[in-house]
Amino acid sequence: MSKPVVLITGASSGIGEATARHLAQQGSLDLVLVARNQQKLDQLAQELSSEHAVDVVVHPFDLTQVDAISECLQVALQHFGRLDVVLHVAGAADFKAALDFTPQEVEREFQLNTLSGIRLSQVAAQQMLQQGGGKIIIVASMSGKLPTPQSSVYAASKSAMMTYAAVLGMELEDSGVQVTVVNPGPVKTAFFDHSPAMQTYIQNVERFALEAHQVAKLLAELVWQTKKLPYEVNLPFAMRLAYLGHRMCPRLARWLTLRFANFK
Ligand SMILES: NC(=O)c1ccc[n+]([C@@H]2O[C@H](COP(=O)([O-])OP(=O)(O)OC[C@H]3O[C@@H](n4cnc5c(N)ncnc54)[C@H](OP(=O)(O)O)[C@@H]3O)[C@@H](O)[C@H]2O)c1
Repeated sequence: MSKPVVLITGASSGIGEATARHLAQQGSLDLVLVARNQQKLDQLAQELSSEHAVDVVVHPFDLTQVDAISECLQVALQHFGRLDVVLHVAGAADFKAALDFTPQEVEREFQLNTLSGIRLSQVAAQQMLQQGGGKIIIVASMSGKLPTPQSSVYAASKSAMMTYAAVLGMELEDSGVQVTVVNPGPVKTAFFDHSPAMQTYIQNVERFALEAHQVAKLLAELVWQTKKLPYEVNLPFAMRLAYLGHRMCPRLARWLTLRFANFK
């Protein structure tokens, strides 16, 4: 890739914003930044383009409008003529008892965390196939692998996203379009600002929590990596081990989760 065109969703905050900064500091590229908050996107675009060798376009967009997602691709094509990497980072959660979710809340969380990623991957992959290659990097969550009480809808939406991406990656094997899923454990971002239950959770797990820049560094490495991408990255190491235990001894892992890892 000479000067890659990278589209980042969720670029107005947390992991997406940190990744945009990381990438801009590291090299020459064109960025398309997507999120709803135009003011934050404009500020970030202004900062990155004035300080680094990047051209930045912003696209304020609500990703729950799944049917209109090809707009994001069109913005990249209109401004830069191609799309090399999609970093699909946007997402949100609500932590509460499974029986308390309304159908509308379930639908909205799946639209954002699953359906938007499926649709964006489809339109991006079609474009990348025409171009001869590209990368689709999806941020899901360790929640989708290690579900815990109060995270039913979020965990299910991320689990569905990672399963879809795994199959898409297999279907596109050797096509030049690579698909990878990054599953972070808890990360200290504004993600938890939405409700008191979520703030309590991040306080409970603060000692294990990652910083946004740690995940951003990994995502940026995947963007620049020339050798084949792994199909999945799980972090931090302790959660990789926990996941291994969960696969090997599911009943014991469930018992341990309910007694010792029930932090929400
Ligand atoms: N923080 C964690 O502990 C953690 C752990 C594992 C996985 N993750 C995943 O990491 C990703 C990033 O989370 P974060 O921690 O960086 O959270 P964050 O700081 O809250 O950022 C979320 C981003 O998603 C965007 N977004 C939310 N709803 C949107 C919508 N309807 N349309 C378009 N954009 C929307 C937000 O922008 P606007 O509000 O401007 O739209 C924001 O840029 C998410 O997919 C999350 O599930 C987070």
